[in-house]
Amino acid sequence: MARLTVYSDTDPTVVELASADHGLVAAHLALAGVLFERWPVPQAIPDVADAQAVLDAYDGPVAALMEARGFQSADVVRMPRGFTDAAARRAAFLAEHTHEEDEARFFVQGSGAFYLHTDGKVYRIVCGAGDMLSIPARMKHWFDMGPEPDFTAIRFFTRPDGWVATFTGDVIADRFPKYEPVTGPVR
Ligand SMILES: [Fe+2]
Repeated sequence: MARLTVYSDTDPTVVELASADHGLVAAHLALAGVLFERWPVPQAIPDVADAQAVLDAYDGPVAALMEARGFQSADVVRMPRGFTDAAARRAAFLAEHTHEEDEARFFVQGSGAFYLHTDGKVYRIVCGAGDMLSIPARMKHWFDMGPEPDFTAIRFFTRPDGWVATFTGDVIADRFPKYEPVTGPVR
């Protein structure tokens, strides 16, 4: 279940809206030109380590999104808890950037936080299993997978080179709260 927090982009202490209501979250994001959907989770949860099983489990909504948005391919990215390169992977998309194509992600398992910077606001969306977020091309944003990354997501691509990040050089991400999931490490 996604949680949306809307901040003024000049002051991260000013929260204009906070909601975990799907309809409200989707409506607010739609006003900003961002597509947010909840996809039904299949009764038989696929083994998230098997990329093809994940894609097969969601073949209906995956095909529908590709058709609707012109995506040409999809793959599965998995960040298992305890991944050795986790800090570097977290840092890679933690600064504000853009892409020349839409960035669409469906969360199969785990969670992560997207921050969208548009219209004088920062929209922070914490996505979890069943949440699909599609960020329009050239919208400024960053992504925080948290200090102990743990997620599996389906990614969508329009062109082989379309998802290259162009960093804006703005340090705005440093001013906003990082993603700190409430769940602790597995012991
Ligand atoms: Fe991105």
